[in-house]
Amino acid sequence: MTAQTHEGRVAVVTGAAGGFGQAFCVGLAERGADIVAVDIDDSSETVALVEKLGRRAMAFGADLADPSSVSDLGERVRAEFGRCDILVNNAGIYPNRPFDEMDYEFWRRIQAVNLDSQFLMTKAVVGLMKQNGWGRIVNITSNSITLAVHGVTHYLASKMGVIGFTRGLATDLAGFGITVNAVGPTLTPSRAWDVRGLPAALVEATVQKQAIKRPGEVSDVVGIIAFLSSDDAAFITGQTIMADGGLARL
Ligand SMILES: NC(=O)c1ccc[n+]([C@@H]2O[C@H](COP(=O)([O-])OP(=O)(O)OC[C@H]3O[C@@H](n4cnc5c(N)ncnc54)[C@H](O)[C@@H]3O)[C@@H](O)[C@H]2O)c1
Repeated sequence: MTAQTHEGRVAVVTGAAGGFGQAFCVGLAERGADIVAVDIDDSSETVALVEKLGRRAMAFGADLADPSSVSDLGERVRAEFGRCDILVNNAGIYPNRPFDEMDYEFWRRIQAVNLDSQFLMTKAVVGLMKQNGWGRIVNITSNSITLAVHGVTHYLASKMGVIGFTRGLATDLAGFGITVNAVGPTLTPSRAWDVRGLPAALVEATVQKQAIKRPGEVSDVVGIIAFLSSDDAAFITGQTIMADGGLARL
């Protein structure tokens, strides 16, 4: 039985329909949080999993590349739950494309979904956190920023941006009792990889460079999100934790 460390908290999680995001919703709900599941896709499966745990859940459909899609999110959360304590900015896309083959439209879409969305989501709920003088924001980056991988210029730019955003925001929000940290998972089976197929050679090469010689799992990251969004992490802010078996040393 997981300790109820998040009892009474309300967590907004993006990219909540599957992959890491769904696991974060379930992990936070197991610890007592109610959940707002934000995704461009149908989050009803996630909502059902959270409700099965006896917690409240609300699905919020949004294309996070479109600022207007989250313009009423804060009000909806206030009306439904009256508060927002935790924001996990997890939504992200990572199509592989060599620099020569990408146009500006493609570049902008990646930055919008992976980085701009974190700005928009924070704007949408930070007022609710300030209202209670307590907040936890966790932004998902990637350990790939430390690796030489072809065809991901757009992705690395967005995920390095997440780290810069995290550091700056941590300073600006510290006076409101809000911490901001980033977590970088490694190559991990998820819905995106279900469609494209996890590149076995890359996984193997990555594993061999790690201190812990096995591929990452979604469950490796859930506890880190839970910790960073708990009372126990009150004195940690602006940090990036790589959940990658000891591959990157920041
Ligand atoms: N799985 C990995 O290997 C891996 C490694 C490092 C970092 N990450 C990061 O983890 C995060 C989650 O990825 P995942 O592997 O779980 O992928 P996933 O595809 O399983 O989940 C991503 C979710 O984001 C949603 N989403 C995509 N575009 C959106 C948009 N415009 N608006 C709203 N929602 C949108 C998708 O519908 C999906 O539910 C991403 O930020 C990704 O960059 C993943």
